[in-house]
Amino acid sequence: MKKNILILVIAIFHQYLFSQDTLREKYNLMPWPQHINENNTPFKIDEKLTISIAGEDFKKRVTNASVQFLRRLANRTGVFIDAGFPIKQKKASIKISFDTVSNLTIESDETYSLEVKENSVLIKAKTDVGALRGLETLLQLVNFNQNGYYFEGVAIKDSPRFVWRGLMIDAARHFQPMSVLKRNLNAMASVKLNVFHWHLTDDQGFRVESKVYPKLQEKASDGLFYTQEQVKEIVKYASNLGIRVIPEFDVPGHSTAILTAYPELGSKEGMNYSIERFSGIFDPTLNPYKEATYTFLENLFTEITPLFPDEYFHIGGDENEGKHWDENEKIQEFKKEHNLKSNHELQTYFNIKLEKILKKLGKKLMGWDEILTPSLPTSAVIHSWRGKREGLEQSTLIEAAKRGYQGVLSTGYYIDRMLSIEHHYSVDPIGDVVLTKEERKRILGAETTMWSELVTSKTIDSRIWPRTAAIAERFWSAKAVNDVNNMQKRLEVINFQLEELGITHIKNRAVILRNISNHQENNALKTLSNLCEPIKIYSRNEAGTEYKTFSPFTLFADACVADAKDAVIFNKLVAQENFNEIKIYLKHWSKNYDELQAVLNNPNVKPLGELSKNLSITSNILLNILTKKEISTWQIDKLNASIALLEKPYLDVELAVVASFKNLITLSQKKYSSKK
Ligand code: ACM
Repeated sequence: MKKNILILVIAIFHQYLFSQDTLREKYNLMPWPQHINENNTPFKIDEKLTISIAGEDFKKRVTNASVQFLRRLANRTGVFIDAGFPIKQKKASIKISFDTVSNLTIESDETYSLEVKENSVLIKAKTDVGALRGLETLLQLVNFNQNGYYFEGVAIKDSPRFVWRGLMIDAARHFQPMSVLKRNLNAMASVKLNVFHWHLTDDQGFRVESKVYPKLQEKASDGLFYTQEQVKEIVKYASNLGIRVIPEFDVPGHSTAILTAYPELGSKEGMNYSIERFSGIFDPTLNPYKEATYTFLENLFTEITPLFPDEYFHIGGDENEGKHWDENEKIQEFKKEHNLKSNHELQTYFNIKLEKILKKLGKKLMGWDEILTPSLPTSAVIHSWRGKREGLEQSTLIEAAKRGYQGVLSTGYYIDRMLSIEHHYSVDPIGDVVLTKEERKRILGAETTMWSELVTSKTIDSRIWPRTAAIAERFWSAKAVNDVNNMQKRLEVINFQLEELGITHIKNRAVILRNISNHQENNALKTLSNLCEPIKIYSRNEAGTEYKTFSPFTLFADACVADAKDAVIFNKLVAQENFNEIKIYLKHWSKNYDELQAVLNNPNVKPLGELSKNLSITSNILLNILTKKEISTWQIDKLNASIALLEKPYLDVELAVVASFKNLITLSQKKYSSKK
C-alpha cells in the first residue's frame, strides 16, 4: 500500500515537472516563478482597467509602481487606460493588497501571489515590495490575439531563492551619469533584482562629493562625480523600486584617486600621485600604520554613511599586492612591532580597524574575498570573486559560509568578460555543495559585476543586458529551472521589453555603426555586427594599456555584443543540420564584401575588409557544396585557407561562426561524395 502511495506521489511530481516545462514554452516570464498554474481565465485589458491598493502605502512604493505600471501597459498595448488614474482605494479591476511597508533589509519579505481571473486580478503580498514584484510579473503576462490585449489567466505563488540579487556598476573607471543609473534601476526591478552595488571609487576616479575632504572630487574626478543630493536621489529612486543601495569605497588598494587628493596618506613617501588613465592593478596604497589614514577614513565614512541607509558597506579590499608596503621601511618595522607576518596580515589589521569604525556608524563591513583571513571577525561579509583559491577546498563563498561569514558570490557573473549567457546561466551559486541550515542562510546571494574600464554611458547597457535578466533568474528561481534553450526563448522577449524602460542596449549599437560608416546605414556592417563578438576575458585590453579613460568607445567592437544574434541562430542550425535555413544565411553572407564597399573607405571600417572578404568567400564555397551536394579537395583547401583568416581577431572582435563553418566541412565530407 505504502509503495503504491509512493508511486502515486512520484507520478504526480513528474506530471508537475512536465507541466512546468510546458508552461515555460508558453509563457515568457523571467525570472520564472516558484509555482504557476493555468486557470485559462484571461483578463481583457481595456479602457475600464483600474488599480486599487489596500495597505498602508506610507512610502508610496506601490502607488508609484502602479502609476508606472499603467503607463507601461498603455504604451505596450495602445489601450487608453485613463480611467486608471488616480489609483483607487477599493473597487478596481486589479486589486493589490499587502500587510506592511518593507524596511529594505536582507530580512525583507518579497513573497507575492498573483491570480488572473476573467474579471479581476489579485496581487497579495506580505510587504509593499512583494506587491511590486507581482506587478512586474503581471506585465510579463501581457499577450494579444485578434480581439485585443489580455493578461494570461494564471495563478502564481512566488518568492526568491536568494535574498541578495545584485548588479554592481563601476562608476569609477568610467563615470555613469544619473540617467544611466536610473534606467538600469528600472530594468533591475523589472527582473526582480534587489541590490544595486555602486562602485564609487578606484584608481581612475573618486565619484562622490565630500564636503569634509573636497579635494577628493576637485582633484580626482575630472569634474565627474555625484553630488550628495544626487546620491540621495539615487538611493530614494532605488528604494521606490524595492532596491537596496550598497556603496563601495575601495581601500587600501585601488586608491590612486584618494592619494591624488591626499598624497600624505600614501605608502610611498614623496610620491606625486595622479589619477590613473590605464586599466589594471596599481601600486598606490593607503598607509596602514599612520593614524592619519584612519582619521581620514573615519571622518569620510562619518560624512558619507548617512547618505546610504543600508546596513551593508563595501570597503573593496581587493588586489592589494603590497608593493609600496614592501618598499616602505617604516611599514616593515610596524609589521614587526605588531607581529604581522605578511602583507595579508597587515591588511587584516587595517580591515579590523575599519570594521570598528563602521560598527560605530551602524554599518556592517563587506569586502572582496581577499579580506577573508583567520583573524577577520565573522561580522564581516565576504564578496567572493576569485572562485576556488589555493589551499581552500571550496570556493571562498562556501568556505566563508562554513567559517561563519555571510557571503555573496560574483565568481561566474563577471559580465564584462563578454562571455555567453549560456556560461553565466549555468553557474549556480551553491551547486551541489551540502550545507547545514545555518551555513545556507549565510549565503545571501549573488551579484553580476559591470566593471567599466571598456564601457561608457553609450555602451554600458549592451554589456549589462539582456544577459543580466537571465542571471537574475538564476538568483531568483529554483535551481531546476536551467534549460538553456527555453531561457533563450524567453530572454528574446524580455530583451525587447527592456527597451520600454529606456535601456539602450539595442538602439545604441546602430548609433555606433552609423558613427563609423560615414553616418549612413550600411546593412553589411550591421550583418557583421550580428556575427561578431568582442574578444573575451579582457583580451581586448591586454596589459590595460591599449584603452585609456578617454579613448574612443564608439568603435566596431563597441557595437558588437556577447551572444551575437545571428551567430547563435546559425550555430544552432548547424547543430540541427538544417541545411535549407543554413543556405539562406550563407547566401546573405556571400554578398557581404560587395555590400561593405560603400563604407570601406572609412578608416574605422577598413580593417574589417579582410574579415568580410573571407566571410563571403567561405559562405560562397559552402553554399556551392550544399547546393550541388558534392565536395572537392580544391574546395576544402580553399575553405581551410579562408577559415584560417577568419580565426584571428579583427578590430577587437571575433567571428562567432568559425566553429560551425568547420563543422559544415566535416558534415559535407561525410554526406557528399568527394571529387578531385
Ligand atoms: C575585482 O574584480 N577586483 C573585485
